Amino acid sequence: MKTIALVTQKGGSGKSTLAIGLAVAAQQDGETVFILETDKQGTVANWALRRTDPDPAVDRVSGGAELDRALALLASKGYTLAVIDTPGVDSVTVTAAIRAADLCLIPARPSPADIEAANPTLDAIRKLGKEFAFVLNQAPVRSYRINEASSALNMWGVLALPHIVQRNDHQDALGAGQGVTEFSPDSKAAEEIRALWAWVKKRMRGSENELRAIA
Ligand SMILES: Nc1ncnc2c1ncn2[C@@H]1O[C@H](COP(=O)(O)OP(=O)(O)OP(=O)(O)O)[C@@H](O)[C@H]1O
Ligand SMILES: [Mg+2]
Repeated sequence: MKTIALVTQKGGSGKSTLAIGLAVAAQQDGETVFILETDKQGTVANWALRRTDPDPAVDRVSGGAELDRALALLASKGYTLAVIDTPGVDSVTVTAAIRAADLCLIPARPSPADIEAANPTLDAIRKLGKEFAFVLNQAPVRSYRINEASSALNMWGVLALPHIVQRNDHQDALGAGQGVTEFSPDSKAAEEIRALWAWVKKRMRGSENELRAIA
């Protein structure tokens, strides 16, 4: 089982939206997916209440020990992908999620405040020696800000592709209890999320190959 964690202390950057979008896109791509929500706000649990499809299943967990137990159980049940949505600030839970993840995704809007806010998260990820990538989210369709933000984020490490543009479909899908790839499968928003999932999948496979090469 592979595990992805969406992490950054900046509120509203898109952790929950991307967790849901990626989880559904991965499920449509053949993965057996479970979303673990460690944020008391319950964005994902509320989304699941509005949903008719029971998959991807969602459960709320709090604290590192509970998270580790849940992940072990999911692996033993044959899930192929766990997606962890995290709160902005509860550092104990966030650290546990980072530790458990094969890949940490750090969403950031193209603004200096979002990019700066990723600093402590990045420190924690580096301390734990984990793989990570930034995801530029809620980007304007085209603007110099994207280029500025991309270069700033690239300087700090990997930037996932494509950038996820600010589009109403993401918000409407959330409200409808769907992933954006279910809500409007032919939209640009869906296309971007599917492409982001493909990037994430490849990246996780890449690090597996690197590990095999070292062993
Ligand atoms: N690409 C996007 N286009 C349009 N709206 C978006 C996009 N990504 C996120 N949003 C919207 O922005 C708001 C914040 O997103 P979200 O709740 O996913 O952030 P978060 O990082 O989980 O926040 P928190 O730290 O509070 O949990 C939501 O209303 C969401 O629908
Ligand atoms: Mg959230």
